[in-house]
Amino acid sequence: MRSFLEQLPKAELHVHLEGTLEPELLFELAQRNNIELPYHTVEDVLAAYDFHDLPSFLAIYYRAMDVLRTEADFYNLAHQYFERAAKQNVIYCEPFFDPQAHTIRGVEFDTVINGISKAQEDARKHLGLDSNLIMCFLRDHSAESAAKHLKIAQPHFDKLIGIGLDSDEKDNPPTKFSDTFYAARDAGLKLTMHCDVNQKDIHGHIRECLDVIQVDRIDHGINILEREDLIEDIKARNLGLTICPLSNEFVVQNLTGDEIRRFLDLGIKATVNSDDPAYFRGYMNENLIALAERAAFSREELVQVTRNAFEISWADEQSKTRYLNRLDDYVAEL
Ligand code: ADE
Ligand code: ZN
Repeated sequence: MRSFLEQLPKAELHVHLEGTLEPELLFELAQRNNIELPYHTVEDVLAAYDFHDLPSFLAIYYRAMDVLRTEADFYNLAHQYFERAAKQNVIYCEPFFDPQAHTIRGVEFDTVINGISKAQEDARKHLGLDSNLIMCFLRDHSAESAAKHLKIAQPHFDKLIGIGLDSDEKDNPPTKFSDTFYAARDAGLKLTMHCDVNQKDIHGHIRECLDVIQVDRIDHGINILEREDLIEDIKARNLGLTICPLSNEFVVQNLTGDEIRRFLDLGIKATVNSDDPAYFRGYMNENLIALAERAAFSREELVQVTRNAFEISWADEQSKTRYLNRLDDYVAEL
């Protein structure tokens, strides 16, 4: 099963590039930029990862980002993720990035997007890994800041496939950002939003995503299962969900295997993703293997989540067909 999953051609639709900052790269960038860290060894860094919920994770995540300063830093960050993903046979991905977490520290938007975008080009050319970028807004920042950053990003819209919403969900509902999301849709961008697991007012947030924002996808969305009306709506709209088992295990102490299986049984397009793999200590393969080994997922179920990811992705139709053919060929060969 392990080698079947390792070789399987995969897509990843929920990974924060800043969440792929491995301790080794953290040290390298700190040294390059003359930044003093409160840690001395990789073990020290890993020992500091004692988060148990979303806010405690986010505090550590934002602190580490301070080492990202130059275009080369963002290039290195993205390139390292693409290398790892390609090694795990990810053939297509849609990574997130958080521009406000950088502009607030005085790093220019162009520095961030140009570094990432060059790494995407190189990954396409040299690793055979295609990607489309999603720009996320921080929901615990103001609506004005989101609007301002959409404007700053405008000259780079050709480098983006969509926009998302992440960070601390408590008291930061989707409708706080309606105007920015409508403007992005009018500009031809796809829309997704985090509906993190077990957050305050989560069912209301999912409802707003569906009825007000009219998202094209939902990130996480586990709590849909607790409301019949949400299940029916998600099914009727054929909306995909990007679920992150190892992340959920950190944040809500549950791999959510039963929930993923329930979505599959309902015919809802659930997918498996890594979220912040440097922090939750697992990339795509480790997430799939965790479901196989600890939630008794069958080969068919794991192929189904993989197929779902290609199907709900925002790749162009021609590329999608090509990826799905690769998946079908791989499964047929066995
Ligand atoms: N930013 C990075 N990872 C996140 C997550 N799991 N939820 C919300 N915001 C995030
Ligand atoms: Zn996330």
